[in-house]
Amino acid sequence: MRRLLARSFVLAVCAVLFVTQLAPAESPHERLSLDANWKFHLGDDWPDALHLDKAGTSSGPAASWFNDNYWRDVQVPHDWAIELPFDQSADRNHGFKALGAQFPSNSIAWYRRTFELPAADADKRVWLTFDGVFRDTTVWVNGWLVRRHESGYSPLREDITDALNFGGTNTITVRVDATKFEGWFYEGAGIYRHVWLGKTAPLAIAPDGIFVYPEFAHNVPEGPATIQLRTTLLNKYRVSTNAEVRWSIIEPDGHELKGSAGHQRLEVAAAAIVEFSGQTRIPSPVLWSPENPRLYKLITTVASAGKIVDREETAFGIRTVGFDPNIGFLLNGKRFEIHGTCNHQDHAGVGVAIPDALQEFRVKKLQEFGCNAIRTSHNPPTPELLEICDRLGMLVMDESRLLGSDSENLRKWDELIRRDRNHPSVVIWSIANEELAVHDTPQARRAALAMQDLVKRLDPTRPVTYAANEDNVFLGITSVIEVRGWNYHLKEVDDYHAQHPTQPNVGTEQASVVGTRGIYTNDYNRGFVSAYDLVWPGWSDTAESWWTFFAERPWLSGAFVWTGFDYRGEPAPCNWPSISSHFGILDTCGFPKDSFYYYQSWWTTKPVLHLAPHWNWAGKEGQEILVQALGNCAEVELFLNGVSQGKQAMKRYSKLFWRVKYAPGTLSAKGYAADGKVIAETKVETTGAAAKILLTPDRTTINADGEDVAVFTVEAVDAQGRNVPIAQDKVQFAAAGPGKIIGVGNGDPTCHEPDTFIPTLPVRNRSVGEWRWKLAPIPHNSSTVPEYANEFDDSTWAKNTADGLTIEQANTTAIFRAHFMLTEEDLSGRGVQIRFTFCDDDGWYFVNNQFVGESHDWTSKPSFNIKKYLHIGDNVIAVGVHNDGSTGGLNPNVTLDLVGQPTTVQWSRSLFNGLAQIIVQSTRDAGEIKLTATADTLTSSSAIVKTQPCTPRPFVP
Ligand code: GAL
Repeated sequence: MRRLLARSFVLAVCAVLFVTQLAPAESPHERLSLDANWKFHLGDDWPDALHLDKAGTSSGPAASWFNDNYWRDVQVPHDWAIELPFDQSADRNHGFKALGAQFPSNSIAWYRRTFELPAADADKRVWLTFDGVFRDTTVWVNGWLVRRHESGYSPLREDITDALNFGGTNTITVRVDATKFEGWFYEGAGIYRHVWLGKTAPLAIAPDGIFVYPEFAHNVPEGPATIQLRTTLLNKYRVSTNAEVRWSIIEPDGHELKGSAGHQRLEVAAAAIVEFSGQTRIPSPVLWSPENPRLYKLITTVASAGKIVDREETAFGIRTVGFDPNIGFLLNGKRFEIHGTCNHQDHAGVGVAIPDALQEFRVKKLQEFGCNAIRTSHNPPTPELLEICDRLGMLVMDESRLLGSDSENLRKWDELIRRDRNHPSVVIWSIANEELAVHDTPQARRAALAMQDLVKRLDPTRPVTYAANEDNVFLGITSVIEVRGWNYHLKEVDDYHAQHPTQPNVGTEQASVVGTRGIYTNDYNRGFVSAYDLVWPGWSDTAESWWTFFAERPWLSGAFVWTGFDYRGEPAPCNWPSISSHFGILDTCGFPKDSFYYYQSWWTTKPVLHLAPHWNWAGKEGQEILVQALGNCAEVELFLNGVSQGKQAMKRYSKLFWRVKYAPGTLSAKGYAADGKVIAETKVETTGAAAKILLTPDRTTINADGEDVAVFTVEAVDAQGRNVPIAQDKVQFAAAGPGKIIGVGNGDPTCHEPDTFIPTLPVRNRSVGEWRWKLAPIPHNSSTVPEYANEFDDSTWAKNTADGLTIEQANTTAIFRAHFMLTEEDLSGRGVQIRFTFCDDDGWYFVNNQFVGESHDWTSKPSFNIKKYLHIGDNVIAVGVHNDGSTGGLNPNVTLDLVGQPTTVQWSRSLFNGLAQIIVQSTRDAGEIKLTATADTLTSSSAIVKTQPCTPRPFVP
């Protein structure tokens, strides 16, 4: 393909006026979700499926005719790793899941999906996009190998047009090999992000082919903004084609911006990629910021030969960013303190397969304590997270998985930048994290420069950093990186800054304080760490110490805490039975730990006052309990049952402690402003025993689109309705109506209960008895041959030998027969499948004289669903076989799978310190989902969430 040089075109006022707000329907471009209706099989049962010798001949599940009827139905995003058991011998950092090289039968899986394509699509290009598959993915379409892709984090996109059947059925097969890890944290396994089928005209906007960004004179957002417009077209025609790209801008209030329309006409050579460029002006732009995340929309339309051939809408924001060595981070020209958190894509119940609505739930949870920035550690994010951050006003540090200037890494980096550069939320790129083995070397310096230079070519608007776990070292990467990133090492920051005064700085990773929600003593053997925020690993600092340090040094730009949410794996400082991390300000469900209130105190402006611990310490009467007050009041006074325990002044960025002799009752606090006014009050009470379960959904109405989720908090409350913070009851759940439970969690880092409950199909296997055979002419697909009939007497035929290679001559045909008995019980299940080891070469299969299918590849392990042809008593299977070359025949190892009815599952989860979480996903039906929770000794409870009719995003049925 030829990449033509971009030609710039300045549009002051559009010469040709036209209707720019074309309805999307007028463009042939479709973007369809392929998330629903996948089939899934765990296990590498077809190690030889990939055929590299001849095109389109891969076998097993890759072949179109493969029978996946009894594979499990799944909807992606899907993470099979959460379904696996915990195993103490498994990798600790990946959460002790039985996955990886030690567990080969759990580490490779297959997905299949069929879909119809109308014949009318034959003149389009069709693209298949996987936003993320973990990992080492092989993709076939109709038996054609279309792509091998190793990365678990970069998207996989392929033009699959040539392999498709237009006007027929198509099969996508995906083999996923999660044997190897890419990180040192839980990474999941499977198709864990969205899948898309894109249809475009042959001349169309290239994938991620739009770039729109604002420019101001002097990089200060004053006066009019110049909007730079770049559109890359891809011409898949075999001839040169004329094209016109038209741009127009929609303001945040939904109106088209007057005078914003413009166009450029160019000739696009055959098979070429050409960038069209223009610019327009927004006289008084509405600026995007976390407080006011207003989005403009660019509408790009492509016309050719008098027809509209493509149209895309691109949300963008108008804002400027910069890092200054003395002032720190600048947003829209003003100093802005980054109150960030690092987060892995991982949540209770669902693992890495996070539905979009749950991403939004998580972003809002972070915002509750004043977090205004996310570092997508340590890999590129899912695109929907960025859309949510754009909309909700959350800044993002967008990170590459690995340092490297090899062509593959640079290709992934290039694709990531093109994909994410329109998002106003993304304010900085991070080339890598803690490349400890190499980061001081000249090789790493050169690789960093290559990655940084690529950013500068593709995105002139954002700076670049590297998350360096280094002290005062100006070697390798730190010597060339635009913004010095600090992972820990506070002691050396000042000296470094003094010696390198022109390099801006940012705290890429700080804190790493550990604590378990609701636990107030260290018990490393059990896997618990006290949540007083007083335990930190050697390399890090408490919340109080690191934040005081940064807050006093504005030039450091603020920082990202390790981490916002707990995640599976890395259970430091604990080991088994702890299976998830303790670093989070929120646990794996998003329930706050006490440090949530520390950050809320100093990262928000609202009055905050919080007491820890809870006040249920039966048996500790008279013993001293350490009490902590977190807040931003000038003074705090503590009371036990109304008796003052003393008033203390709150130093900025600190917290207060008392030692209080325990007596049941009420521990309360008043917070005073500097003028002595009470501005906040709080209390913790000794509760009664747990009496009832309470279910509270995060939203009372969700969309009936088959994707939206409601997140239910499950609590145990006492007779007065107060949360019982020590309740650990096991709770059972059931959902009725148009929704299904997709995951459960409780934030307990030592809980080994399942996150998900999967119905199984019980299967009884039986081998089909004795086979007999005879050389005979066969009319392949007719049942008129007497030898195929049940009543035919084959007793004089030869017995089939063990290897099945009974036909010795090429181009010879034979018939094979076997009988098997079935009872009423055998036929009472969901189905009966017959599986053949091999048929060499072509086979035509008949059950009780009825044709059931054929096979044409001796490696294909044919299998057929035959229940509808069967009856109680004696049944006959007959196979006509044609041997192409050398020896052939039918292998007599043939298995009948008697498939029972799916088991019913009982969802359950224990409360952890009074709380658990249930995630419920809508179907596409409107109505009411009723979630019911029951527990042995507690009054049960139910809650309703409505599913409202909506237009789901376009999807492939
Ligand atoms: C950092 C690392 C993180 C995490 C953290 C735990 O050095 O970048 O991924 O492992 O330590 O404290």
